[in-house]
Amino acid sequence: MVVVGEGEKRLLEAALKAMKRASVLWGFRVGAAVLGNDGKVYEGCNVESWVSGLGTCAERCAINHAVLHGNQKIKEVAIVMNADKPHAPRPCGACLQYIYDFAVNSKIKIVMAKAERGKVLFETVQVKTVRELFPYPYRK
Ligand code: THU
Repeated sequence: MVVVGEGEKRLLEAALKAMKRASVLWGFRVGAAVLGNDGKVYEGCNVESWVSGLGTCAERCAINHAVLHGNQKIKEVAIVMNADKPHAPRPCGACLQYIYDFAVNSKIKIVMAKAERGKVLFETVQVKTVRELFPYPYRK
């Protein structure tokens, strides 16, 4: 089991709160939170459209939220999904590229957890670096 520090707890709780705001038409709720360069937490939720590809994932929503508030760089990412999914919470490939694009470096942590009945299941937390999940990013 991963030892979850105060910083990770703060991000995961913010992601959980954001998950409740998700706009879901056909998929499931996802919450994310990123730690901006200014030390503040910026949340995001997924927003779906009936036209596939038009919506956005929670991670990209959180990063856009951070950018809007003046953060071009992020220092950590947390993601929360409900525990009824068969798979562990993970950013999709598009979000991994986007996280890489805004990360201070490729060693920043991506903290992933399941939630149940409105609570983060801290025993499910997994922590990986951007580099571990996305070893070959695109860069011009
Ligand atoms: N989704 C996210 O928000 N983040 C991820 O990391 C994976 C998938 C969203 C997209 C869609 O709204 C729903 O989850 C189902 O795929």
